[in-house]
Amino acid sequence: MSPFRITRILPEDATDAALRADVRAGLTGSPRTLPPKWFYDARGSELFDQITELPEYYPTRAEREILAARAGAIAAASGAATLVELGSGSSEKTRYLLDALTGLRAYVPVDVSESALVGAGRAIAAERPGLDVHALIADFTGALELPDTPGPRLLAFLGGTIGNLLPAERAAFLASVRSALAPGDTLLLGTDLVKDEAELVRAYDDAAGVTAAFDKNVLSVVNRELGADFDLAAFEHVAVWDAEREWIEMRLRARTAQTVKIKELDLAVDFAAGEELRTEVSAKFREEGVRAELAAAGLTAVHWWTDPAGRFALSLSTPARPAQDA
Ligand code: AVJ
Repeated sequence: MSPFRITRILPEDATDAALRADVRAGLTGSPRTLPPKWFYDARGSELFDQITELPEYYPTRAEREILAARAGAIAAASGAATLVELGSGSSEKTRYLLDALTGLRAYVPVDVSESALVGAGRAIAAERPGLDVHALIADFTGALELPDTPGPRLLAFLGGTIGNLLPAERAAFLASVRSALAPGDTLLLGTDLVKDEAELVRAYDDAAGVTAAFDKNVLSVVNRELGADFDLAAFEHVAVWDAEREWIEMRLRARTAQTVKIKELDLAVDFAAGEELRTEVSAKFREEGVRAELAAAGLTAVHWWTDPAGRFALSLSTPARPAQDA
């Protein structure tokens, strides 16, 4: 069995402080919002895993198809000795990369969900003797402080999770990724693609109601962590496509007028009947847009792969060479 280490980058109370700040800002602002990262307690991570198996939720399967077909090409192009995976969750798709990267010595899964990291990290360490598994409990939207493992590094950000960031946040995130990469390192980025509206909305509002339960789980997190009294049955899950900004929004709509108390914040929030709380933005992309956002951060996409149906894309980028002096 190879070593498994887990490091909490943010102390426990920093996570708590961030939740308090996010809930206060999000519930007192207009429109009301909660950031999607708070979905993922143990229950939320389990519900997300169920989402990935729904007939309507195509991104996981589409990305898996690309990984299955291209893992060899990704491994050859990156030559990585360390795989860093941001938002690793259950690390289910990572296996394609772990199998293909023949010179791999370290795997660094990074996630906000400790339960997902421990489960996946231990299993991978047990299966792969000689692989150093160093899990980080961290919010990857902050500065990337990576452990000192051998290069070159392949930094993978899969699942289309970059779509949870707003455009300005994406620019900041990609710039911070760029600054964490040394020459020879690569970024593997998963992006869900713009497609037919009905197909997109179905993926975020499935018939079995798993996505609705996942959406409402953020209210359970706030109830438990901050002593709030959200009544989950008093909210309805809604998924809408914003055609102009090309993103899906998940919202929770108050079925009736109600007041929610958040004891630990000493806060009471009034909801009008029909008022919506935005819980997630999931942006969808086009090839030109992804290339442009990467380039703006100093990254050059050297490969672009999609599944045969063209629903999802993986891009592989390298740090752009600094501009020559004139
Ligand atoms: C994990 C952020 C990629 O946006 O599709 C799934 C989360 N939300 N169903 C996505 C999610 C609703 C998912 N990501």
